[in-house]
Amino acid sequence: MLEYDPFSDEVMEDPHPVYKRLRAEAPLYYLEKYDAWALSRFADIWDCSSHKAFSAARGTTSSQVLTKVQPVTPMLNTMDPPDHTKLRSAIRPRFARAAMAGMEPTVRGIVTDCLDEVMERGRFDVIGDLAARLSVKVTCTAVGIPVEDGDLLSDLVWRFFGREPGVDGMTEDGLAAAQELSAYFVQMVRDRERAGHDADDVVNALRNFELNGRRFDDEEMASHLSLLIIGGSETFPKTFANGVFRLWQHKDQRRRLAEDPSGIDDAYLEILRYDMPTQFLCRTLTEDVELHGQTLKKDAGILFLYPSANRDEREFDDPDRFDVTRKPARILSFGAGTHACLGLFVAKMEGRVCLEELLARAPDYEVDESGIERLRTEFVQGFASLPVTF
Ligand code: HEM
Repeated sequence: MLEYDPFSDEVMEDPHPVYKRLRAEAPLYYLEKYDAWALSRFADIWDCSSHKAFSAARGTTSSQVLTKVQPVTPMLNTMDPPDHTKLRSAIRPRFARAAMAGMEPTVRGIVTDCLDEVMERGRFDVIGDLAARLSVKVTCTAVGIPVEDGDLLSDLVWRFFGREPGVDGMTEDGLAAAQELSAYFVQMVRDRERAGHDADDVVNALRNFELNGRRFDDEEMASHLSLLIIGGSETFPKTFANGVFRLWQHKDQRRRLAEDPSGIDDAYLEILRYDMPTQFLCRTLTEDVELHGQTLKKDAGILFLYPSANRDEREFDDPDRFDVTRKPARILSFGAGTHACLGLFVAKMEGRVCLEELLARAPDYEVDESGIERLRTEFVQGFASLPVTF
């Protein structure tokens, strides 16, 4: 009998065998404890991501929709159209491909500074020493947050995602970190106001945005900025570490990329497809929906099992094979539809630049397997620590 519980040891150890069975035997799986349905097939998640009945307004994380311990604060990702569409349109141009291309020299500077510093040691942790620090700085640059506060913000984001054995979902300390993050941004917004800061950046785009004739107050500004710093800096380090690990496992593919870096864009997408850290994001139904011959009732929760979709054999040939030359028509690592990742071009550029610079300096790096630490949470999985030597 097939049983799926996102908090079970089995799923935290290795979710893919369970996901495979879900796709084959129960593409709609009902989690009675949470009154929620898990969707595991690519096409279902892709299509439902644009369906108006799948609302984000009651949250998207497991702590909001399943365990309900995390309050839902107003952020872009927890708004529904039409308000969501208005806000997204106001800040989207600043995340466009062209705007990001202009940022590449700055990002490369941040990456090379961080790499030069850690490589002197001969050994470093890909996440803690490198990617977590630089991804916060890159996000600060993209959004207009002071880069010098990067390390402070990185610590807060790390605590936000902490988990404790025996506690389903967010911890007390994680909730406290969310409040500290909010307090930081309230202060930052007030300081900028006092200084008459009028840069053409995301912070000011949020500041000048009016929804139904009203601007965001300081707390609402803090909430939106928290989403950007969390969304922008939390996932990247895990995806990059996954890439460092998989390329080390597949040394022939790593060698080819080092010799011809033009394949790195595709390689980073394959890394994202193969090992997506976020196990699922949620929605709540605003009306009854028919799917696979069943009626999903209004108010039920929905889990989009993105990593499962990315290994769906209906969408990808031989999906469990890691192949950096694969050119899939679409992947679900950046979501899809209404809430598709706004930072897509930042993330792709950051991934390419980091891999280019690492492979140029250390094409033969080794992973120290004895030092690996893994994250075991229902929500985000992957490495907590990945030491490399060269
Ligand atoms: C490798 C890095 C990244 C990955 C894998 C990733 C993944 C995702 C995914 C899966 C979603 C969809 C959320 C949902 O379905 O509810 C999303 C949304 C979002 N991402 Fe990213 N992201 C990354 C980097 C970034 C960066 C660098 C930024 C900003 C600087 C960013 C900002 C956002 C925002 C604002 C949303 C919400 C969009 C909306 O609700 O309309 N992300 N991201």
